[in-house]
Amino acid sequence: MQRFTDKVVLVTGAGSGIGKASAVRIAAEGGAVFCIDLNREAVEGTVEEITAAGGKAAARVCDVSDEASVRDSVQACVDHYGSLYSLVNMAGILRFDDTAQLQAGHWQKVIDINLTGTLFLCRESLPHLVRSKGSIVNAASTAALSGLPCGVAYSASKGGVLAMTRSIAVEYAKRGVRANCVCPGDITTGMTDGIDFPGTMDFDLMPRIMSLSGPRAPEVVAGVIAMLASEDGIHITGEDIRVDGGTLS
Ligand SMILES: NC(=O)c1ccc[n+]([C@@H]2O[C@H](COP(=O)([O-])OP(=O)(O)OC[C@H]3O[C@@H](n4cnc5c(N)ncnc54)[C@H](O)[C@@H]3O)[C@@H](O)[C@H]2O)c1
Repeated sequence: MQRFTDKVVLVTGAGSGIGKASAVRIAAEGGAVFCIDLNREAVEGTVEEITAAGGKAAARVCDVSDEASVRDSVQACVDHYGSLYSLVNMAGILRFDDTAQLQAGHWQKVIDINLTGTLFLCRESLPHLVRSKGSIVNAASTAALSGLPCGVAYSASKGGVLAMTRSIAVEYAKRGVRANCVCPGDITTGMTDGIDFPGTMDFDLMPRIMSLSGPRAPEVVAGVIAMLASEDGIHITGEDIRVDGGTLS
């Protein structure tokens, strides 16, 4: 399958996990991938891996919660490759806090990166996506659909991403831009490795986030993201697709 030949895709969080797997998948399908991450070493590693396999990719360090940095990065992508066909927003952070002890700064950081960062990327990319009749794929989560104990900041940020994505889908439908979410659950990545839970965490409350068929590699989400970002998803917009092994079914 070469669904991204002559197409430019900007991927955030491309240094690790689902973002990295998406960048690798899209490049393998012929896309030129502009990879963004806060972690320089990680994002350069992704680009090295793609180019070593014969793909096209460029790396840029960017904090998605920094408005100026996002504006410059989207412009740098368009300057580098000449256009933008799809935006894949996977940068994000997860933290667990006892709600009664949640600090304002911790809440704000999660909202700034997961929700506001996603908005900044969408906002800066939309004029280019209108030109290319392109699409957006945002990272929501099963935490946006079902309660996540000690995860109020994270679930609120992902619920916001879900609602924001639907609104963008409707606002831009007549202009030919699609916007969708993936809602992963229980995917094995850096994010889910060695989580720092608060002492009050009750793990009996967690089964609703555990996959029925066990945790899965980020590539299973990347395949769905590639479908949504490509022409295969041409009549899908304002949708969210769970990739959770049936957990919430
Ligand atoms: N892994 C899961 O089980 C799971 C489940 C549901 C949703 N998600 C969502 O999928 C997305 C990808 O998660 P993942 O599991 O691949 O995580 P990950 O930690 O493996 O990758 C996230 C990447 O985002 C980058 N990042 C963090 N803050 C950033 C910032 N301010 N600016 C730019 N880059 C930043 C990190 O450096 C990292 O490379 C996230 O939005 C996450 O919330 C993951």
